[in-house]
Amino acid sequence: MNFKLTKELINNIEAELEIILVINKNFEHRFIKDRELLEKIGFRGEQDEVALLIEKNRAYVGADKIGSSTTRTAVASVIRRLKTTKYRSLKIASYMNHPKCTSVIRAIVEGFILGGYSFDRYKNEKSKLNIKEIIISLEDYREFDLNLEACSPVVKRAKILAKATNFTRDIVNTTPDDCYPKVLADIAEKLAKKNSLECKVLKTKEIKKEKMNALLAVSRASRHKPRVIHLAHKPKNPIAVVSLIGKGLTYDSGGLSLKPSDFMVTMKLDKSGASAVLGIMKSVSEMNLPIEVHGFIGAVENMIGGDAYKPDDVLVAKNGKSIEVRNTDAEGRLVLADTLCYAQQEVKADYIFDLATLTGASVVGVGQYTSTVMGESTKIKDMIVKGANIAGEFATKLDFNRYLKKSLKSEVADICNISNTRYGGAVTAGLFLEEFIDEENRDKWVHIDIAGPAFVEHIWGENPYGASGVGVRTISRVLEALVRDKKS
Ligand code: BES
Ligand code: ZN
Ligand code: ZN
Repeated sequence: MNFKLTKELINNIEAELEIILVINKNFEHRFIKDRELLEKIGFRGEQDEVALLIEKNRAYVGADKIGSSTTRTAVASVIRRLKTTKYRSLKIASYMNHPKCTSVIRAIVEGFILGGYSFDRYKNEKSKLNIKEIIISLEDYREFDLNLEACSPVVKRAKILAKATNFTRDIVNTTPDDCYPKVLADIAEKLAKKNSLECKVLKTKEIKKEKMNALLAVSRASRHKPRVIHLAHKPKNPIAVVSLIGKGLTYDSGGLSLKPSDFMVTMKLDKSGASAVLGIMKSVSEMNLPIEVHGFIGAVENMIGGDAYKPDDVLVAKNGKSIEVRNTDAEGRLVLADTLCYAQQEVKADYIFDLATLTGASVVGVGQYTSTVMGESTKIKDMIVKGANIAGEFATKLDFNRYLKKSLKSEVADICNISNTRYGGAVTAGLFLEEFIDEENRDKWVHIDIAGPAFVEHIWGENPYGASGVGVRTISRVLEALVRDKKS
């Protein structure tokens, strides 16, 4: 998909199909040329409703208002409808909120790339998108005078973020037999080579040397050996140092606390945090952000077998804390505990974000479409929620409290890997992780539970069936905002 921005008026542009947004059911606007025909076929202009008028070479789509998320999903709906067609070129006008505010242009480009995504690695019949060229006219819906110089860098960033999101989606959608810890490490190494990142991969021997015993215990019953991956983007004179930590369970069977069959299906999604970290490393390096960004991944498979770790085991994590295992399905926090310790040992960061499909409780609490954000620093939690908002993703804060903290007490070890209450499971998981954050880093760290939106088994907005690539756009936007705030 090639994007071209032009000052040419929409009517003067040559393309096989024109895409027109019907804003707030306003059929009177000069862009709408087929009012009667649309009425005849019962098109109402509801958000994301598409009408393809083949003989007119025009496609209409409804959007409730001019805005980033309404436009992004509307455009995604059109492109999805065009997937099976032979159109090669499209044209679309601009729909800006304000002449200086380029966010809708960005949303249009993202809508095309994110909505055009399909995962067909395992299908004999591949769905090939024929659209090669998309021409965006700077003729605006509200007749603002838009400028090419301000809009073109925005198109570039939109492409980078949307493609990084699709890159993450591909990894998550790959089956556990095709994507195991070594494969994640291979992907990281390939990305590092292409995007000039530093990359270090720890294998079992080195992981043992680092005393990451909790991570090793989780991985023990799998025929796939674990990996700890460290990627780094190191620009000159960075304005900040950020560490990202991703949960990389390439499969989560639950271990000996085996998941019921219905809950096990889709557990290839448990590498979504790690895959998001890979996508973010790709986007920050391509945007060449002046921030030093480190990506750490604990890549492990949680399986059963004679060698499996067990409920009743006591594990000693990298920071020396002992953990009573009472449920082997609460494995993500064990892997993250060690990976968080390793990340803090390797890098002194200003911000530490972890991304993980950590708990079903997060999904129960806020629904499938929303990530939950936890930590001690309200300021950093707000940064994440705001970043998600701008990116078109959903995130909300969950508060810690000292009473829930007590529920992790163990009679036999320093801490237990599950809480003794059946309530507040997302929060208690977050509180468990906090035990592995050094005192001086407590107000630098935020945990993001992406268990809900990482993988949804239906189309929603600009997201396909399956992996959404959640987190990539949110964190990339947070990092972009850090740069912007520093400059101003
Ligand atoms: N990977 C799961 C969490 C999960 C559940 C992600 C549903 C996405 C969708 C995690 O490892 C897990 O199994 N958590 C347990 C924790 C419990 C044993 C304390 C859970 O949420 O049930
Ligand atoms: Zn689990
Ligand atoms: Zn898990």
